[in-house]
Amino acid sequence: MRDKKVCVIGLGYIGLPTAALLATNGYNVVGVDLNQHAVDTINKGQIHIVEPDLDAFVRSAVSASRLAAFTKTQPGDIYVICVPTPFHESEAVPRPNVDYVLAATRSLIPFVKSGDLVILESTSPVGTTESIAQVLADAGVDVASIHVAYCPERVLPGKIMTELVENDRIVGGLTPAATQAVSAFYRSFVRGAVLETDAKTAEMCKLTENSFRDVNIAFANELSLICEREGVDVWNLIRLANRHPRVNILQPGAGVGGHCIAVDPWFIVSRNEKVARLIRTAREVNNSKTQWVIERIKTAADEAQDLLGRQLVIACLGLSFKPDIDDLRESPAMAIAEKLLADGYNVVAVEPNIENHDMFQLVSLDDALHRADFFVILVRHREFIESNAKRKLADANALDFCGTLTLS
Ligand SMILES: NC(=O)c1ccc[n+]([C@@H]2O[C@H](COP(=O)([O-])OP(=O)(O)OC[C@H]3O[C@@H](n4cnc5c(N)ncnc54)[C@H](O)[C@@H]3O)[C@@H](O)[C@H]2O)c1
Repeated sequence: MRDKKVCVIGLGYIGLPTAALLATNGYNVVGVDLNQHAVDTINKGQIHIVEPDLDAFVRSAVSASRLAAFTKTQPGDIYVICVPTPFHESEAVPRPNVDYVLAATRSLIPFVKSGDLVILESTSPVGTTESIAQVLADAGVDVASIHVAYCPERVLPGKIMTELVENDRIVGGLTPAATQAVSAFYRSFVRGAVLETDAKTAEMCKLTENSFRDVNIAFANELSLICEREGVDVWNLIRLANRHPRVNILQPGAGVGGHCIAVDPWFIVSRNEKVARLIRTAREVNNSKTQWVIERIKTAADEAQDLLGRQLVIACLGLSFKPDIDDLRESPAMAIAEKLLADGYNVVAVEPNIENHDMFQLVSLDDALHRADFFVILVRHREFIESNAKRKLADANALDFCGTLTLS
């Protein structure tokens, strides 16, 4: 298997770690990305995204000449597609956008040959793997002679290099032979179990996992609104309820973000509008939690402003979609900070995981504590739960939307 050349298309948070891991496992890997800066950075043995340990893998893979990056698809024996799958936002029920997947598929048409594996890793609506085969067939590729399969990614940003190896994987081929061939590839570098199924089940499985998370977070977020009305501390309530042996409530936050949990449930809802009612409601509950946080901050800030008789400086603590990463995609914290800025509030942001930002003045936590009058904790970053910071933020009466001051 390791004599096969792997072409990874899309070198972002999923594709680059996968390419680097394969290369350090003895595969010859070519990586492809439309982003020239990403390609140049990788070819210097460096990384253009933040992910623990990834730099060492890329450095080692590039210096051993096992990984090289290009802006155009290169010939290979195994193609792994890791391009984005966003949604069309403007619509009432957001529809998945698989244009990147189809473009990546078209890019390999000149090279794909009998016996090759074509693997889709991007989170995709049910039927996308079949669409890939259709695109290839329409271009005259003998699809019966290649193996097309879906293998979703389940990694947690911040732990990608470990989870790529340790997590169980689902492989769903368009044919049983494709499932077997692609499973053998994953077994060559994954320590977790490789579980075999068909393509549609594998596609649905990934969407189900993220919808499960979304529904459960929505329950916690809804509880936080109920508790506010009832005068109950939601963090304490959840701590106590979770002492029941069969209850495990998640923690509320400022909403749900990222390009996975906040996006993927729509891939189910858009195809099953009449029946996916709970999944849709969960999405709406989690989105409305962000609006609730905005209103809550504005009300408290306006009251404080009236009292002080001048405009406040509001410090937004955290911009990323979850703790300890630099990823701002679909981030509720970003949406909140942006809305405050757009509504004329004087906002500074503390985001220890990024160096600069077009829209926000980024300051350190200590700077913020000196300069700001009003503090809102939007993300539970490790810098904010450190005991000294926690004490200062509690003294400053920070509005805490993610349990930073309460959870141990
Ligand atoms: N990041 C995660 O934690 C995670 C986890 C599980 C699944 N996923 C899924 O994996 C997929 C990729 O996500 P990501 O976070 O790596 O995205 P990303 O935006 O970080 O990276 C995607 C890369 O693909 C490149 N690209 C787009 N079209 C291309 C094309 N036609 N040819 C070559 N390159 C192209 C982009 O320039 C970008 O660098 C998505 O479907 C996502 O939902 C992501």
